Amino acid sequence: MAIQKTEKIWHNGKLIPWDDAQIHVMSHVVNYGSSVFEGIRCYAPPTGPAIFRAQEHTQRLLDSAKIYRIDVDYAREELISAMVDLVKTNGIWPCYMRPIILRGYGEAGVNPFNSPTEVFICNYPWGKYLGSDAEQGVDACVSSWTRIAPNTLPAMAKSGANYMNSQLIKMEAIINGYVEGIALDANGYVSEGSGENVFIVRNGALQTAPLGNSVLPGITRDSVLQIARALGIPVIEQGIPRELLYIAEEAFFTGTAAEITPIRSVDKISVGKGVTGAVTKAIQKEFYGIVRGEKADRFGWLTPVPAGSKQPVSV
Ligand SMILES: Cc1ncc(COP(=O)(O)O)c(C=O)c1O
Repeated sequence: MAIQKTEKIWHNGKLIPWDDAQIHVMSHVVNYGSSVFEGIRCYAPPTGPAIFRAQEHTQRLLDSAKIYRIDVDYAREELISAMVDLVKTNGIWPCYMRPIILRGYGEAGVNPFNSPTEVFICNYPWGKYLGSDAEQGVDACVSSWTRIAPNTLPAMAKSGANYMNSQLIKMEAIINGYVEGIALDANGYVSEGSGENVFIVRNGALQTAPLGNSVLPGITRDSVLQIARALGIPVIEQGIPRELLYIAEEAFFTGTAAEITPIRSVDKISVGKGVTGAVTKAIQKEFYGIVRGEKADRFGWLTPVPAGSKQPVSV
């Protein structure tokens, strides 16, 4: 989906025109992939725009930077207030928010220490990520690409470089007629999709891979775990063998972009009856109820944006 540009982008503390948010081709990030970023949704409940789990996303951004020894001049609360200002200024919601911290134009070599840190935050309208079939469920495959192994690239950091692996997974899936690929980790256990965590339901219990299986600590993953516990659904975080995907009663992807997207088949084997199951539906109902403002924000997930005079866009 093409990016629909907005008026302003936040850059190192200032709001600049969208078209001016540029970096030099010899920036460290262009040559060596040295960036960390976030994907965050700002929803549009009737009370006005509300950023989903702003604290957790911003903390993960700063954690990613810390793992890569990138010094950032902005504290978590300053970045959150920058996001709030940006939504207000651009007058675009619901929207997707993309903060990026990168190593800019400095030295040409691999040593990153002499390249300056640049912080950008963009926001723009964005609809469903895994397509309009997301309610009925998507067809997924197990990727022939292995997810990044422990002690190679850190999976807990959301770095641009990790997405070269994600791109291989995604391209293979698309070329073979699937919506998404599920990667196994270096030991052959289920890891994650190219841009989503994976859940299955087996004997009524919800299972997802633990953080040691090369997964991003997804904020939606955490939200689903919280919802499941609140609903009294048993939750297990343990290594998932590939074949459990085939014999699961239910399966779904979670992610900021994908939200909660049922998986109806894996490698052309139907998951359960191939329709969205009861556990998935119960979790979706709670999740979408909260972000759409139909249910109370009982977990404290929404950061309200005091709306300006501009009207929201519909996506
Ligand atoms: C590789 C990968 N795993 C999992 C997720 C889900 O994370 P979150 O729910 O925080 O968006 C994402 C999306 O950001 C991702 O790119």
